[in-house]
Amino acid sequence: MSPLVLHVVGARPNFMKIAPVMGALSNYPLRIELVHTGQHYDFAMSDVFFEELGMPRPDHYLGVGSGSHAEQTGKVMIELEKVLLERKPALVVVAGDVNSTMAAAIDCAKLCIPCAHVEAGLRSFDWTMPEEINRIVTDRISTLLLTPSRDANENLRREGIPEERIFFVGNTMIDTLLTHLPRAREQNTLDRLGLSPKGYALLTLHRPSNVDDAHALTRLLQAIEEIAKHLPVIFPVHPRTRKRIKSFGLGDRIEKNPGIRLLDPLSYLDFLALMAEAFLVLTDSGGIQEETTALGVPCLTLRENTERPVTITEGTNVLCGTEPRRIIEEAERILQGNSKRGRIPERWDGRASKRIAEIVFRFVEGGGHLPIPEPSF
Ligand code: UD1
Repeated sequence: MSPLVLHVVGARPNFMKIAPVMGALSNYPLRIELVHTGQHYDFAMSDVFFEELGMPRPDHYLGVGSGSHAEQTGKVMIELEKVLLERKPALVVVAGDVNSTMAAAIDCAKLCIPCAHVEAGLRSFDWTMPEEINRIVTDRISTLLLTPSRDANENLRREGIPEERIFFVGNTMIDTLLTHLPRAREQNTLDRLGLSPKGYALLTLHRPSNVDDAHALTRLLQAIEEIAKHLPVIFPVHPRTRKRIKSFGLGDRIEKNPGIRLLDPLSYLDFLALMAEAFLVLTDSGGIQEETTALGVPCLTLRENTERPVTITEGTNVLCGTEPRRIIEEAERILQGNSKRGRIPERWDGRASKRIAEIVFRFVEGGGHLPIPEPSF
């Protein structure tokens, strides 16, 4: 029987990172299975992505749901361990930095199953961010570290990771974007929402540091209100943020502002369509910093740090912190037509997943030994 490669996804950003890897691996003589941990479980946070990205139904659904970090991580570890013991994969593929990613990597390390980490090596150097802990732990114990940018290779080297484990492959989320952009443009998303191209700003917020604290969220809202005087702000709201807006009593203030439009979380294609035609994107997401760089759309990142520096040094991203005055200044600069031009980072060329598939196949075929040669493309 051909070797089994098991993919683990759990939360929204995982889906677009893993979908093209599964697609590329399907061209090799391997068995492929998918585990969904159930960290994200709503239709809008999960199912719709499977539909739009053409991902197969998960072979295993763990149903862990929401909870504290320990609860969520622990439940994934307990449930996934059973699947790993039963299925005995030759390799497990995980992506990104969510709790499900780290939990899966720990299970693999303890069971001596090789784990490949897609999007390895990113560092914000901010240990208060749950994702930073997830990234560091996952990278330290994974076997194949598949990086999206050269800075990520540097971070891993500095942490003492052996060179033979590190592969600069490019960005699989951008593979997905390039594949689906033509379809996204056919969705009539702007028409449905009554928007015109370049006629709005797009906002997303969900980082705990921005939305779990009433003072922090209110300050950001001040900046958004100012920007909304000049340009309508479209705000698809993450469930975490929706809850906080309500519990901090900010719902009325936002809903009554004629310049701010709250939406439920959007599907992948609708969001991509909105991003591609936005005049400006404001976000605290990691992936959106990358997607706006790939699209050449100006992005203001409402955080003090980023684990994706290539979007600043090469792309359209500006790290502008959370201080309202600075956010407004940077938005005004863009409104006056002075946005960063940016260029597409190296290997964000739509072929990252193909490189990964080649590496994974060679690794598995060779019985899990390193070193293996780098793909030649
Ligand atoms: C998680 C990831 C974050 C990623 C984000 C994308 C971690 C530590 N965080 O954050 O890195 O950027 O996903 O969305 O893994 N909820 C629902 N429906 C769902 C999922 C969640 O209502 O389908 C609500 C729950 O009340 C939950 C809250 O959202 O408590 C937060 O979900 P959780 O998975 O804990 O983290 P995210 O904030 O989504």
